[in-house]
Amino acid sequence: VAALVKNQIISLDIIDYSHEGLGVAKIDGLVIFVHGALKGEKITAKILSVKKGYGFAKVEEVLVLSKERVTPLCKFFPKCGGCGLQHMSYKEELDFKKGLIKGASEIVPSLAEYHYRNKCALPVRKGKSGEILIGFFRKKSHEVVDINECVLQNNPIRELVAGLKSWMQENNILPYSEESHTGDIRQITLRVLENQTIVTLVGTKKNLHVLSFAKVLQNIYGENFALYYNYHPDKSNVIYGKDFVFVAGNDKAVVIDGLAMSVHPAGFFQVNDSVREKMFAYVKSLVAETKAKTVIEAYAGQGVLACKLSKSVDKAIAIEICAESITAGKEMAKQNGITNIEYILGDCGQKLGKVLERVEQPVLIVDPPRSGLCTKTLKAIKDSLPPFVLYISCNPNTLTRDLNELLPYYNLTHKKGFDMFPRTANVETVVMLQLKQ
Ligand SMILES: C[S@@+](CC[C@H](N)C(=O)[O-])C[C@H]1O[C@@H](n2cnc3c(N)ncnc32)[C@H](O)[C@@H]1O
Repeated sequence: VAALVKNQIISLDIIDYSHEGLGVAKIDGLVIFVHGALKGEKITAKILSVKKGYGFAKVEEVLVLSKERVTPLCKFFPKCGGCGLQHMSYKEELDFKKGLIKGASEIVPSLAEYHYRNKCALPVRKGKSGEILIGFFRKKSHEVVDINECVLQNNPIRELVAGLKSWMQENNILPYSEESHTGDIRQITLRVLENQTIVTLVGTKKNLHVLSFAKVLQNIYGENFALYYNYHPDKSNVIYGKDFVFVAGNDKAVVIDGLAMSVHPAGFFQVNDSVREKMFAYVKSLVAETKAKTVIEAYAGQGVLACKLSKSVDKAIAIEICAESITAGKEMAKQNGITNIEYILGDCGQKLGKVLERVEQPVLIVDPPRSGLCTKTLKAIKDSLPPFVLYISCNPNTLTRDLNELLPYYNLTHKKGFDMFPRTANVETVVMLQLKQ
């Protein structure tokens, strides 16, 4: 058989989905991952690249259409790399995600498949002719696709994006260029919780004067906003530098799920409000079943879950590496009169072992980032073997890897999916483990 080459057009039958939700086809012993193809479709595809044993392609023409193919809601899809599954019905998306988290009893859908995200980070870059681009990175690239709407967001971004562009132009503030590492503003982030919008401008200059941008925010959000400036001079892909300054607006607390709180821009907060509530309620019911007196939340963010659980246990402990989250968490506990929670700032790999040594029969909740549990955290669990481990995961691959380490000691009693991130290939899983007798 002649080898496939770039730009070649071939016909393919799509038999499955990859972890990213790409269509999968097989031809001449090669696995081809096809952007924009659905299971069950017959297509012609253009080869984009060929590697050893596999290749990538994109749909040219759909010859036999899946009945689960739908028209994307967003005009920037699929060019903008912000999400990936808008061409798929939500039913098909849930089926695909069930396949990602094998053995789950069910997958809890999101109340809304669009307009659910409470957070957004938009890179600001200099375009080829010096224009300002604000949007998302095209997949696997550092090229910003200029957008003024995102249908995943719970609030429109149109006025904010337009307002930032005109404010930058009027004040001669320049967009960042990665190539030359020059320019002033490199990112704008926002988080909308209840009726409060927190906006952060991330810039390369220590004392960039951004106070006048508050006027733009006031026109859009009235008094319900807070503006931060983050100084981030490094060549780096992470969104924020270390220094945050509160610039203007008000930092008032919002009431979420019965808890008054402020969330720092650097701190983690679950992005889908309705799914977060359902997931936390499920975790609470699992913890109640154990009748445990102590609950440890490792990778706690500001410990929203731990605070909620603190009401039904004697003691809650929250371990978290982000100092801003710990500060916000302590403040949240104080504001809500929660006195039986202990906050520990640090790396779970370093801190968890000692905590497990001093508490008896806890439920241990771990909710790590996509990279999963580090070796030291896994060792701490294996050394002390708490009677229950509740693993909240946003990455089925690292979850499977970590469960392989723990399942010699534990029985898996519950596994449920939660669709925290509709229209993207990401999915949340909650797993309950009970120590073997
Ligand atoms: C997926 S979030 C979960 C937050 C929280 N459980 C919630 O639901 O709001 C993961 C958190 O782990 C924190 N983190 C990442 N690496 C860590 C480490 N090595 N030790 C402790 N916390 C860590 C992050 O800062 C983030 O707040």
